[in-house]
Amino acid sequence: MTAETRTGPAPKPTGPLSKIDYSERIPNNVNLAGDRRLQRALEGWQPKFLDWWKTLGPALPTKDVYLRTAIAVGRDGWAHFDHVPMEEYRWGIFLAEANPEKKINFGKHLGEPAWQEVPGEHRADLMRLIVVQGDTEPASVEQQRVLGNTAPSIYDLRNLFQVNVEEGRHLWAMVYLLHAYFGREGREEAEQLLKRNSGDIDSPRILGAFNEETTDWLQFFMFTYFTDRDGKYQLGTLKESAFDPLARTCEFMLKEEAHHMFVGTTGVQRIVEKTAEIMNANGGVDDIFEHGGIPLSVIQKYLNFQYSVSMDLFGSEQSTNAGNYYSSGLKGRWQETRRKDDHTLLEDTRTMNIIEDGKIVEKEVPMLSALNLDLRDEYVADCANGVRRWNQALEDAGLEERLFLPHEGFNRRVGVYANHHVSPEGEVLEDAAWEAQVNQWLPSAEDRQKVADLMQPVYEYGEFAGWIAPPSTGINDQPVEFDYVHLAEEGLA
Ligand SMILES: [Fe+2]
Ligand SMILES: [Fe+2]
Repeated sequence: MTAETRTGPAPKPTGPLSKIDYSERIPNNVNLAGDRRLQRALEGWQPKFLDWWKTLGPALPTKDVYLRTAIAVGRDGWAHFDHVPMEEYRWGIFLAEANPEKKINFGKHLGEPAWQEVPGEHRADLMRLIVVQGDTEPASVEQQRVLGNTAPSIYDLRNLFQVNVEEGRHLWAMVYLLHAYFGREGREEAEQLLKRNSGDIDSPRILGAFNEETTDWLQFFMFTYFTDRDGKYQLGTLKESAFDPLARTCEFMLKEEAHHMFVGTTGVQRIVEKTAEIMNANGGVDDIFEHGGIPLSVIQKYLNFQYSVSMDLFGSEQSTNAGNYYSSGLKGRWQETRRKDDHTLLEDTRTMNIIEDGKIVEKEVPMLSALNLDLRDEYVADCANGVRRWNQALEDAGLEERLFLPHEGFNRRVGVYANHHVSPEGEVLEDAAWEAQVNQWLPSAEDRQKVADLMQPVYEYGEFAGWIAPPSTGINDQPVEFDYVHLAEEGLA
């Protein structure tokens, strides 16, 4: 079924616009000044956040960056662009407009008013959901810390920093909820969000994909395409939550996420365009490293890797927790209100794949038990859109080669495929067959090294590294050669 047949049209936006108060130390639209205790607690966390940003945020020293800052949460004119020193970026707390009539749209509380406070019996689960989501936001900033040193252009450097400051703001969004609704425990969790670090052996980030190194810009674009998109879908389920402050927080975060995925989609697209151009100039050969490009086969391997580790982020296909979160109203489905069903799912079933005697077979399971899979399916369909776009670029260049999403069972560590080897085409393999071919499917150390060797910074305005095409337009109607970033070092940009 396509998204259009399963869901109705998007609901019309409602509610007034609300301005964000920038006269406060912590910009916000939640009337922080009206709650002195909360304000003091968050002002106590703020210097710790800034310390974290200084030590684990972007490593490349800059004077200022042309950044987007949220100024309203409404439908038009919500953001303002200007050159700002990054450490002076106004990270704040912004929630989408409140709807006083808001009802719960699914589960056993269907039709009841949305919760403005945390119900005691769901406190632990809600806090856990917020902490897990919150943990991913600073993790990606840490993963991308040194990328600025090898940016393919000033335009791309600016986009990296934009993504970084907004992931920092998303951490603020979650910390606000922890401080405002979960008391001392919430404040302790907020501290921990700065203490766990990506890839740290003793105190890693919670989810696997957020402990992987972002080794180079090809991986960064794959990350923003596949892993930020996982974030979009997780936020989409929390946006439906019966706990209204969480729903409104996530709704606004989704607005910012759109740009992160734009960076990924267009980033990979521009690499594919350049790769096609270099291939065509060299008789269609795949190995174009020596001509300064990234081979299509290596792009496919990076795609395979980032897609499969992002699929793991959805958790096990069957999950009692996911069903309970749904029934109790904590987490809805993607576009819950647009789904044409009863929104309780007590009688519904669906099919899913399992492995039996070395073969992938289907089995029927209760819908409520398979909500992680429901979300993952939506994600997979969305991922396919970008791949189509990239393949269009290959077709336009007159090439026969195509990129594709590997089978859902490929390279998985979570769920039904976790203890099996599955090829990108969906064939279940013995260990030896997997070992013999894995370097054709996932980036080898040598592939990563060759990509890394191409990553030489280009800091001249309007110029681009040889392995990526320039974008068709700049940011916020500025030209591509605009001075998006002023580097700190004399004589550079
Ligand atoms: Fe985010
Ligand atoms: Fe993001």
